Amino acid sequence: MRDFADRVVLITGGAQGIGLAYVKAFADSGAKVVVADLADPSSAVAEVTASGGVAVGTQIDVTKASDAHRAVQCALESFGRLDILVNNAAYYGGMSFSTFDEIPEEDWDRSMNVNLKGVWLMCGAAATPMRAQAYGRIINIASNVVFMGKPNFLHYVASKGAVWALTNGMSREFAGTGVTVNCVAPGYTTTTATRSMGTPEQVQELEEQILEAQSVKRLLDATDMVGAVQYLASEGAAMVTGQTIIVDGGVIVG
Ligand SMILES: NC(=O)c1ccc[n+]([C@@H]2O[C@H](COP(=O)([O-])OP(=O)(O)OC[C@H]3O[C@@H](n4cnc5c(N)ncnc54)[C@H](O)[C@@H]3O)[C@@H](O)[C@H]2O)c1
Repeated sequence: MRDFADRVVLITGGAQGIGLAYVKAFADSGAKVVVADLADPSSAVAEVTASGGVAVGTQIDVTKASDAHRAVQCALESFGRLDILVNNAAYYGGMSFSTFDEIPEEDWDRSMNVNLKGVWLMCGAAATPMRAQAYGRIINIASNVVFMGKPNFLHYVASKGAVWALTNGMSREFAGTGVTVNCVAPGYTTTTATRSMGTPEQVQELEEQILEAQSVKRLLDATDMVGAVQYLASEGAAMVTGQTIIVDGGVIVG
């Protein structure tokens, strides 16, 4: 598969988890990849390089406008353009569960800052080169919890609901520019982040409930998200914008 040969892809939160699966898949498909993460991206870059791919890393905080611009600049200086932006970074791993009126204010602010403001800043930084190229694919990562009203997680649910809304509105603002803006909403996906969200017994109970709710009877892993993201990034999706693809094994239907 060389579907993305010579395309330049910037993936936030690409150092680990689902983001790392996007990084490896795009690199395997011939893209030049920028791994932008608060965590050290060097092992992700080394993995890509070891398997013959092309990637560079940049350590950034998506909540800072200057860092968002630095990540985009890294793509332009390293590879000359920026074709695809995957806004995957989030405050997710390590989040606490509590009723909405007991969420610590700093947790609420961090969730909104990373999950929503970070997406807005990254899109803003990418807009100028994408408009100048008259080409761009922006894929924002939300969550299926937006459509199920998951309780005791409102700081996360509200931030991801706003990512869904931002995607719709922004797709119209890019009208006529050659830039599309879409969203992927994953369901529960086994990663280090999800597996550390409780005791092993709590995680097992949660996973049994999720399997019960899914139509496809196996848990999702990070590679299950790749198809939807790469479709939205592809030439075949040129007429698709302002859309959300839910990838959750059939928990949400309709
Ligand atoms: N795993 C799931 O079940 C699941 C379900 C629905 C949606 N999602 C979404 O998928 C994406 C990836 O999830 P994951 O399970 O791999 O989570 P994760 O916590 O393992 O990965 C998040 C990544 O974002 C990075 N990050 C956090 N704050 C940052 C910041 N301020 N600046 C830059 N990078 C930052 C982290 O370092 C990490 O690499 C997230 O957007 C998450 O909300 C995950």
